[in-house]
Amino acid sequence: MPASVWPAIDGIAYGGDYNPEQWPREVWREDVRLMREAGVNLVSVGIFSWALIEVREGEFDFEWLDEIIDLLHENGIAVDLGTPTASPPAWFFANHPDARAVDRDGVVMGFGSRGMASHSAPAYREAAVRIASTLAERYAEHPAVVMWHVHNEYGVPVGEDYSPHAVRAWRTWLQEKYGALDALNAAWGTAFWGQHYTDWEHIGAPATAPSVINPAQRLDFARFTDAQLRSCFVAERDAIRRFSSLPVTTNFMANQHHGVDLWSWAREVDIVSDDHYLWAADEEGEIGLAIAADLSRSVGGGKPWILMEHSTSAVNWQPRNVAKRPGEMARNSLSHLGRGADGILFFQWRAGRSGAEKFHSAMLPHAGTSSRVFREVVDLGARLGKLTEMRGSRVHADVAILWDFESFWAQDLEWRPSEDVSHDERIRAFYEVLWRDNIAVDFALPGHDLSSYKLVIAPAQYLLRQADADNLNAYVEAGGTLVVSFFSAVVDENDAVHPGGFAAPLEPALGIRVEEHLPLRAGISTTITLGDDTFAADIWHEHLVVTGAETVATYLDGPGAGQPAITRRRHGAGTGWYISTRPDAAALRAVMSQVYVEAGLAPFDAPAGLEVIRRSGDEHDFVVAINHSATDARLALDGVDLMTGAAIEGTLEVSAGDVAVIRAPRTATGGGR
Ligand code: GLA
Repeated sequence: MPASVWPAIDGIAYGGDYNPEQWPREVWREDVRLMREAGVNLVSVGIFSWALIEVREGEFDFEWLDEIIDLLHENGIAVDLGTPTASPPAWFFANHPDARAVDRDGVVMGFGSRGMASHSAPAYREAAVRIASTLAERYAEHPAVVMWHVHNEYGVPVGEDYSPHAVRAWRTWLQEKYGALDALNAAWGTAFWGQHYTDWEHIGAPATAPSVINPAQRLDFARFTDAQLRSCFVAERDAIRRFSSLPVTTNFMANQHHGVDLWSWAREVDIVSDDHYLWAADEEGEIGLAIAADLSRSVGGGKPWILMEHSTSAVNWQPRNVAKRPGEMARNSLSHLGRGADGILFFQWRAGRSGAEKFHSAMLPHAGTSSRVFREVVDLGARLGKLTEMRGSRVHADVAILWDFESFWAQDLEWRPSEDVSHDERIRAFYEVLWRDNIAVDFALPGHDLSSYKLVIAPAQYLLRQADADNLNAYVEAGGTLVVSFFSAVVDENDAVHPGGFAAPLEPALGIRVEEHLPLRAGISTTITLGDDTFAADIWHEHLVVTGAETVATYLDGPGAGQPAITRRRHGAGTGWYISTRPDAAALRAVMSQVYVEAGLAPFDAPAGLEVIRRSGDEHDFVVAINHSATDARLALDGVDLMTGAAIEGTLEVSAGDVAVIRAPRTATGGGR
């Protein structure tokens, strides 16, 4: 059946994971009453309920699920129905002990947790499709059910699996990919350390070995794992589609888990949905949040998406589970909304008394309804209820940052030049400059059509296929501005260094060659000159050979002393910048302000700490202004405050810690996809 595109809910979706099976019936009645009070209109049910639905292999008990779905429906609350395949029951492992996942060290995963199954085990795949089909057949026509939630966060906690089933599937995958062993031997460079293969059956998973495993083998294993997990999703989705035309999603973990390639996954789901948890140690967690939200939007091609889970306050799985402070939950929620989410959901509705997550916050905390968190939940529900007209509006961005999971998989393998180099850190550093300037950002792959962007940044493109390098060179030639950070374009798709040396594929756009990487010792800070100013730079220098670029910054000291640190080349109608070190934040801002001018961009004029995001509808724009600071802020704006109905004439005031959402006149928007 063809899938519908958005769940049938009025307004912005609001709610969370709901686990009624953990509670007696009288609590259910209180739950639905309080959900109504909070404005909840969508809950995800059944995500971890396999053992209570299929009580023995092939024997189903739907009584409790029928009852709760009916009760929710009677109360006007729609259901996002989960397939519970992230947590197979005890009987499954008793009947199919071979279906347990095995880790890289050969440890067979035990029971009493979740996600222990091997995604390559035929018994698991069969059982997963059976429960998904059975649920779809039973509930496809139930008026409460508006969407399907397959599995939970694929790749977590079981990503790479080294079980015998996985090894068999891996060999088949390799045979399909390479056809002939000669091709595999060439791609993996097996002449190195005498790894040459003469029989497919001799190829193992890249399990723990005496020394470092062939990186091309490991990179392929990451691709295989991603493909295996995706095929599990597709099998469940297709089983559901036989009975139902409702949209099917699975919850991603955008920038918090890199194990699956969300660009490929987004093509398989009807709606992108994402889980995001603030990293408590990060005092500006709202920046990581913005990255996650922009990535969720970008992988879905800019379409509205659903924030499937976040937290009302603390989580339970970080070293220090810092509680959110008053107003923070609303700021977080509306930042996601401003970045394209048309649904704001939480893990979870009611805090669980038992089990591993009892210290996790919830919409209804252990403290009950007379609590700050519940009051804020009710308030947020009321606010979202006033934002229905924003549904379907889009974010337009003039800037793209490259985000390539495959490159991350390769870069994260062993024996890289410096453990101080991190793709996440580099992406965050560049993103942060744009975030502080309130310039909207999409994420993209290097092979995408980038022509609508004024600026493309490659903070961490270690692996770059030649065809994608050609795309970036052509982008610059046609007038684009490209900024490339160090340790990019180093290897091809087999983790083999490009012929001609590091960064050679981008020489047309950048006009440089990288003769040698010069990583720095721990804690060493060096100096670069940029115009009349000097700035700090650390972790990495390079010996650059300039073949057709001007030098913008020079190393004053350290191993690169006297040589170019940052370069700029006019190529065709565009410009290619290369940054061969890690400049400090002030230096990066100084470079980026020159880049902005070149790219025709300007920072948005707003006080520090005021995050301003714009979504464009057919007739209006919607401006979300989030005040992260401790002082009241003002913004020049005309429009209508959607929360209060007040007219904004010239100046919007946003109190410290508060958020405003304004219907504003539509502006012409360029860029974006
Ligand atoms: C993930 C899972 C949830 C729950 C939360 C807790 O996002 O999907 O089931 O464990 O984490 O933060």
